[in-house]
Amino acid sequence: MNDPSTVENTELNALGDVPIDDVVALMDRPAPDYRELYYRWERQQWEAGSIDFMQDRNDWLAFPDDLKRSFLWGLSSFYVGEEQVTHTLVPFVDAVPTEEQQVFLSTQLVDEARHTVFFDRFYSEALDEQGNDMNSRLERQSGRLNSGFRSLLLEMLPAAAEKIRVDKTLDALVEGIVLYHIVIEGTLALTGQRFLLNYLRESDVLPGFRQGFTAVARDESRHVNFGVRFLGEAVSNEPRFADLIRRRLEELTPVGLSVIDPPDGDASYFDPLPYGPEQLTEYALSSLDKRLRAMGVDLAA
Ligand SMILES: [Fe+2]
Ligand SMILES: [Fe+2]
Repeated sequence: MNDPSTVENTELNALGDVPIDDVVALMDRPAPDYRELYYRWERQQWEAGSIDFMQDRNDWLAFPDDLKRSFLWGLSSFYVGEEQVTHTLVPFVDAVPTEEQQVFLSTQLVDEARHTVFFDRFYSEALDEQGNDMNSRLERQSGRLNSGFRSLLLEMLPAAAEKIRVDKTLDALVEGIVLYHIVIEGTLALTGQRFLLNYLRESDVLPGFRQGFTAVARDESRHVNFGVRFLGEAVSNEPRFADLIRRRLEELTPVGLSVIDPPDGDASYFDPLPYGPEQLTEYALSSLDKRLRAMGVDLAA
């Protein structure tokens, strides 16, 4: 494994060859303070517009249809997911109590917009997804999503953001950050990214996508660090938040894990992949456990 500080400073054109577990290791270190997270963002800029998808397009055309279908399920969940987390973050930016937190979340808002543009370019240039604009291409993805994803990302996340906007309380923020930063980013997205990127790297395909998606994962490590720090501070200032976090997780975990179920319960989605739902679930739960330990919340309590 590379030194995490090497991964931190790797340029975009070399990121596609960095093992994803080295990026995940950034998330597993103690979360730095908000200012340091901001400086990391300044150092880790990358251009979604500069990635070359020529080879990706050729690779994609050569994939068998069943593999394309399985990839499209996962990729479209990310494409739609990035767009959803972009437009639901604004109430969080507005409601967090300190300037340092607001500054950091402002950088996250830009990150999520960049991730959406990255996926949109990949879909239009490598996968040849037709459509006049991002809206029309995003709409085309709806048939590729499963019901767990719809519940969590299209219903519960906007509801949590709206609650923050209306209530502006620390309780609403804690509930929202458990969903957004811990369950969606630090558990589910991380799991999908890790298995997908490992597979693509071992098969040596989609080099442009690997570069960008590894940069996305590095950005996500900062977002998850923020969530862990924010919730850890909330619990240490007011221990009652540990209960709120536990209750919120009891409500979210079953829906969260159903995001791993293939669309319409069709198990053949996993046939062309070298991993199955059990491995994804196990990895997701161990990631969640790491996040909880880091914020000082004992789920068994
Ligand atoms: Fe993102
Ligand atoms: Fe994120």
